[in-house]
Amino acid sequence: MKRNHVHRVVVVGAGAVGSGYAFSLINQGVVEELVIIDLDERKAEGDVMDLNHGKAFAPHPTKTWFGTYEDCREADIVCITAGANQKPGESRLDLVGKNTAIFKNIVGQVMDNGFDGIFLIATNPVDILTYATQQFSGLPRERVIGSGTILDTSRLRFMLSDYFDTAAQNAHAYIIGEHGDTSLAVWSQANVGGRNAVELAEEKEGKHVEEMKGMIKDVRGAAYEIIERKGATSYGIAMGLTRITNAILKNENSVLTVSAHLDGQYGENNLYIGVPAVINREGIREVIELPLDEEETRNFRHSAETLRNVWEKASG
Ligand code: 2OP
Repeated sequence: MKRNHVHRVVVVGAGAVGSGYAFSLINQGVVEELVIIDLDERKAEGDVMDLNHGKAFAPHPTKTWFGTYEDCREADIVCITAGANQKPGESRLDLVGKNTAIFKNIVGQVMDNGFDGIFLIATNPVDILTYATQQFSGLPRERVIGSGTILDTSRLRFMLSDYFDTAAQNAHAYIIGEHGDTSLAVWSQANVGGRNAVELAEEKEGKHVEEMKGMIKDVRGAAYEIIERKGATSYGIAMGLTRITNAILKNENSVLTVSAHLDGQYGENNLYIGVPAVINREGIREVIELPLDEEETRNFRHSAETLRNVWEKASG
């Protein structure tokens, strides 16, 4: 990434997630320039107008406009949120056919305009579409990042904070694997305020370990529950994307659970999947290999196999 220049993010797709991301970027004053691209010009123009009307209350100025793919040339990050989203009852993996075709077109247009930055992918199934973006773009793997399990991880941290009555920032636990129905919690490494979460749950009156471990079901079910109620999820993922954007643009070297390419880590190859990774200006600096217990290893392998099968069909 070029240094000492104006930071620009282009967001492709101004639906619930894309517009939420734009709102979040402006509120946190993350970038100098924010470009919104959408097939529905009127909707995107409306978003730009609406966002501009809040600028007086934002911490920093963010020049925001409805743009075209030509704006990608100067972008540090192109974030794709476009595509079909789940209808009630549909799984993320059900979207693979439709959204891979949409991505081929979008990524082609971004690249045709000379983009040379970092792709951040949010559309589902995110692990598959992140891999597809890397293949369609030909960019180095470390510069194609999926939102992966960043949201699942933050959902779990919220649940743990609620359970132990401690701030979410002090609940440290990772969800890894597919951003979807086969994700898993790494309980063996979970801690709250520096104390092992399993031991803390054991100390709770009535031995609550199983109850705590049941949170994975709520994490996996969270999007279904929200989609049933409001048709889509938006704020949580928008804040997660903003977190990743900050880590990149501020060269943070932050550890975040994103969809990253595995090249032997966790015994897996040729796969994008949710794992903790160090994120900085270059994109994914490195994948962190957590020590997993036997059950976690089995569950991770199952998640990886599920994704690999879908990827092989989608790319074959
Ligand atoms: C979410 O987990 C639907 O993937 C989206 O909120």
